[in-house]
Amino acid sequence: MPSRRTFLSLVAAAAAWQTIAARAQELFSPFVGSDPENVERMVKLAAPASGETVIDLGSGDGRIVFAALKNRPGVRGIGVDVNASLVAKANAAAGVQNLSDRVQFLHQNVFDADLSKVDVIFMWLFPELMRLLRPKILAQARPGTRVVAATWGIGNWPADVTDERTGNFTTVRLWHVPARVEGAWEWEASIGGNHYRFEALLEQHFQQAEGAVRVGHRRQLIQSVKLQGRSLQFLLSMTLPGTGYTGMSFSGEVRGDVIEGTIQVRTPVREDEELEGLPTIRLPWRAKRTLEIGYFAPTGTDIS
Ligand SMILES: C[S@@+](CC[C@H](N)C(=O)[O-])C[C@H]1O[C@@H](n2cnc3c(N)ncnc32)[C@H](O)[C@@H]1O
Repeated sequence: MPSRRTFLSLVAAAAAWQTIAARAQELFSPFVGSDPENVERMVKLAAPASGETVIDLGSGDGRIVFAALKNRPGVRGIGVDVNASLVAKANAAAGVQNLSDRVQFLHQNVFDADLSKVDVIFMWLFPELMRLLRPKILAQARPGTRVVAATWGIGNWPADVTDERTGNFTTVRLWHVPARVEGAWEWEASIGGNHYRFEALLEQHFQQAEGAVRVGHRRQLIQSVKLQGRSLQFLLSMTLPGTGYTGMSFSGEVRGDVIEGTIQVRTPVREDEELEGLPTIRLPWRAKRTLEIGYFAPTGTDIS
C-alpha cells in the first residue's frame, strides 16, 4: 500500500503535470489509506454523536467510516468511492464486523453524493478536488455540518479548528458549514417604552460576517459577530431616538429566512452612564429576511 509520502509526491507530480491532469482526471485522487493515528485524530475532531451520520468522500477501504462507528453504537456511516473493488471490499468488511445495518459504501462519484442529511463530512483528497467540492458542501450540507479534512485546507475557507502536527502526523482541520446570513434583515423591538424597527444589512465570507443596522435615520455597525453553523451572535450599541444610547447583544438561530433568539438590552438612566454593569433586559428576537430594505432610504439632514 503506498505511504503518505507516496501520496504527497503524487500531489507534487499532479501539480507538475497540471495540464495533463486537467484534461484527464481532474476529479480523481488515487487510493492511499490514511495512517491510523491520523484517522483517530480526524474522528476525534469530528466527535460524531449518537444519532448522527458521517460520510467519507472518497472512502477507500472504509477505514475512516469504521473508526467513526467504533464504540459509537448510535452513529451511522456512509462511504462513497469511484473504485468499485474498494467499495466491495469495504461493504464486505462491514458485513464481517456486523455493521451492515449502520453503514453503506456506495459506488459513486463524490460530486453525486447526497450531503443534505449528514452531520459530518470527512475528506482526504487532493487539494484541488476538495476545493472543487467546496461549493457543493456549502450549498447542500445543512448549516452546522462538521467538515474534517486532513493535510490540506479547502481553498481560502478558514478552518474553525486546526490540529497542527509534524513528523508522521498530518494537519487535521475542522470547519462548521455556516448558515447563509448574507443579505437584508428586519425586526422590531420595544425598548424603554418606544417601538423600533431595525433594518440590517449583513455581508458574509464563509463563517465571517459583518454588517450595519439602521433605526430611524441612524446607522451603526454591528460588532463582535460570531457565526457558527446556525448560531449567530453580535453586539450593537447605538442611540435609539427617545431612549438614548443603548447596548444590545443579539443571539439567535438562523433557520432559512428567519432568525429567532434573544436580545439582551442595557439602557443608561443618565446620558453619561457606562453601559457596562447596568441591569439587562431580555427580549425575544425574531428577524426576517426582506427584499425591501429601508437601509438605503434617504436619510435627510437632521443627524442630531
Ligand atoms: C487518498 S484516498 C483516501 C481514502 C480514505 N478516505 C482514507 O483516508 O483512508 C482517496 C480515495 O478517493 C477516491 N476518489 C478519488 N476521486 C474520487 C471521486 N471523484 N469520487 C469518488 N471517489 C473518489 C479514490 O478512489 C480513493 O479511494
